[in-house]
Amino acid sequence: MKDRKEAEKRIKKLREEINRYRYQYHVLDSLEISEAALDSLKHELYELEQNDPDLITPNSPTQRVAGEPAKGFKKVTHQERMLSLEDVFSLEEVESWLERIQKLQPKATFDFYADPKMDGLAVTMIYRNGRLEIAATRGDGTVGEDVTHNIRTIEAVPLQLRTPTDGEVKKFIKKHEDQIDTQKAEATLRAHQGRLEIRGEVYMTKRQLEKLNRDLKKRNQPLLANPRNAAAGSIRQLDPKMAAERGLAFMAYGFLGDHGLDTTEARYDALRLIGFPVNAHGAYCSSIKQVHSLMVSVGRKRDALDYWIDGMVVSLNDRKLLSDLGVVGKTPRGMVAWKYPAEQGTTIVREIRVSVGRTGALTPVAVMDPVTLAGTTVTHASLHNEDEIKRLGLKVGDTVIVEKAGDVIPKVIQVLPNLRTGTERVFKMPRSCPICGSDVRRGAGEVATVCTNKGCFAQELARMLYFVGKSAMDIRGLGEKIVEQLIQEGLVREEADFFKLTPGDLEGLEGFAEVSAKKLVDEIQSHRQVPLARFINALGILHVGEETARDLATAFGSFEELRKATKEELEEVDGIGGKVSESILEFFRDPKQSERVDHLLEVVTPEQIRSRQFASHSPLSGTSWVFTGSLASMSRDEAKAKVRALGAHVTASVSKKTDYVVVGEDPGSKAEKAKHLGVERLSEKQFLDRI
Ligand code: IVH
Repeated sequence: MKDRKEAEKRIKKLREEINRYRYQYHVLDSLEISEAALDSLKHELYELEQNDPDLITPNSPTQRVAGEPAKGFKKVTHQERMLSLEDVFSLEEVESWLERIQKLQPKATFDFYADPKMDGLAVTMIYRNGRLEIAATRGDGTVGEDVTHNIRTIEAVPLQLRTPTDGEVKKFIKKHEDQIDTQKAEATLRAHQGRLEIRGEVYMTKRQLEKLNRDLKKRNQPLLANPRNAAAGSIRQLDPKMAAERGLAFMAYGFLGDHGLDTTEARYDALRLIGFPVNAHGAYCSSIKQVHSLMVSVGRKRDALDYWIDGMVVSLNDRKLLSDLGVVGKTPRGMVAWKYPAEQGTTIVREIRVSVGRTGALTPVAVMDPVTLAGTTVTHASLHNEDEIKRLGLKVGDTVIVEKAGDVIPKVIQVLPNLRTGTERVFKMPRSCPICGSDVRRGAGEVATVCTNKGCFAQELARMLYFVGKSAMDIRGLGEKIVEQLIQEGLVREEADFFKLTPGDLEGLEGFAEVSAKKLVDEIQSHRQVPLARFINALGILHVGEETARDLATAFGSFEELRKATKEELEEVDGIGGKVSESILEFFRDPKQSERVDHLLEVVTPEQIRSRQFASHSPLSGTSWVFTGSLASMSRDEAKAKVRALGAHVTASVSKKTDYVVVGEDPGSKAEKAKHLGVERLSEKQFLDRI
């Protein structure tokens, strides 16, 4: 956001909205929107504040953990605040995190421990002399709720700490002895004396949540929306029996104090030894590259896991470094949550454009600020029809939640009306077709508005197919079925739009997956430079085909020159008469066409012809050639290209203006016609001699 005033307003709105959701999330255990959508709002706020740091206030949601413990539970003040983690979404963001901490610790070298980030509820458990004494939720980070009675029902949580065997302790010491205080560590493992506070995540397995929802459905009770809500709701049941029925699970990720365990890896190993489940996919990583490959390999297994994870928690392995780096706001500097790409996000609808499909149906399409969903950038979402816009209550300028589930077309699922500024505009379906201008009609009881001109879509499709076709832009992979879908979905309304497609836009279309979408976008992008003749041909000017386009390109050398050309100048070109020159002039005079061309020139550069001088000095320059029959030494197209390179032009039919007709094997009637008109005929050998 360029304007500071505007940023300030947006920040205020975002804070109000995030706080409202935060209360729902932390206190009511029922969040109206998904966590990914909320994350997206938070991320926007964070970035706006980073751009204008003096707008940061101490009570901004980015600066504190909000939410109050619910009534009905005893409050527990945490000995050490329960922190949260800064989210990062890409390798670049991880690298800039490392740069930041490297600046603070210039001498340090970093190694890591990466552990799957469970989608559940943080709890802390105090053990005294090895016995579970108190378990509490995070609450607002400082004060949580006493949920001991419920935590005790979770079998994964030891009520009494386990004492490892001698063999296990030995093995542990051997593995870690260079990095830990062995005496202190051994005492922690064996003796469990005094106070030990363990932290971890309570969660519900996928299977358990499905079973629970089946039961709730039978009893006509509201279903649990997601695993976090399920875990939180269960752990905050006042009746432990109810909580026990929910079949919760637990994994530990840390404990307070140092206990001689000076690496994160040793701490995870120790947790396992004293009886806590820790995530089996967590691992020591000697470099960020290793963390990245772990992230990818765990990501591949994600669907098959019986619990939900939304990323990897990356911690420095060296605990001293970690504690020296300290805490900024509510997050430790030495740890980040590297999140898997979100499938939901928030963005702003800038325009609602209307596309026309094969059946003539008008489809409104939201054109949005780019938003990254599940790793790809998305800029368009179909709104289907007028009623859907009404149902959503969507206005142009609204902030919306968009979702992209798997390989499905992105969808606007919700409007966030509280973020309105008052400048949003109501959308109205046009009364005439945006393509052909004919009347549109919406029948009684119908949802679709349709163009009354039956040929409308066909014309549009033909024009676009010609543009991308072999004689024009020559973009491979844009067949009829795909172009049809692109028009139908409103992704392509004019030629320039092909160049604005992102892999994310394509992934939802039939027949596309991540790899093929990227491949097509790369292919399109590789055509930003185009030979002038192809560019002229691609415009689809009436009476200007491949051949005339080449003649025009050779004659004018650049697109600007052609665009400026007068009727006389046009007609000086061999083969161009009044009908063609009129059509060209009319094309450039039409404001709609002119706008299309301007948009196209923003994304495509027609190459200037530099060989004109050379060509005009060649003995063949200015001569006119016709080819008929097949040649033995090269294809006809190659032969044509050769004479053109020498400044000659090639026409399709023989006339008095023709200088040479090259006659190959099995010639057509052109050879006869040449004879009749007295035009010089060349055999293949004679032709080769000439060139
Ligand atoms: S380490 C600063 N490890 O993520 C606290 N946390 O945003 C970091 N979480 O409230 C704790 N899985 O409940 C850690 N493997 C994991 C985790 C994990 C989930 C939660 C934790 C915390 C939140 C931080």
